[in-house]
Amino acid sequence: MAIQVDQEMAREKVVRYLQSAHAMEQQSLDSLESLAKLTEDEQFEHALALHANETREHLQLLEGRLAELGEGTSSVKDAQNKLMAAMSAATASMRPDSEGKNARDAYIAEHLEIAFYEMLERLALRAGDEGTSDVARRICQNERATAEKIASMWDHFVELSLRETTMG
Ligand SMILES: [Fe+2]
Repeated sequence: MAIQVDQEMAREKVVRYLQSAHAMEQQSLDSLESLAKLTEDEQFEHALALHANETREHLQLLEGRLAELGEGTSSVKDAQNKLMAAMSAATASMRPDSEGKNARDAYIAEHLEIAFYEMLERLALRAGDEGTSDVARRICQNERATAEKIASMWDHFVELSLRETTMG
């Protein structure tokens, strides 16, 4: 049996999700840019730079949805963004096994985003907001492709990691 949904409440929640997504993507962009600078691996740098460009598009898409709904972005940081910020801070300095650790951090970050957009896509449908649902689905495809790209490089990251340990 379908659950009765208060569309107005769902709509307000969609706005909060969009604002959180915007803050999350901004954090993600900072993180991708700093990782791209830190890595000494060309293949990883290329993947990070590509996704940084996609992330700039995500920010625009989210701003577009918020504008359409008559809302602005928010500076509110939720728990998820604090986690992203912590990961970004951790990548600000080079550490032993940094390439391997950075790859794992990037993989985790993409999955946080996937989970977020999977929920936003469905929440927006419940709110009768197909525009936001479409944007969430579209962005989620990029997050998934990036996670898959990282996952296709595990052997490569192990090689990098071993090289670092040998050199260190
Ligand atoms: Fe992402």
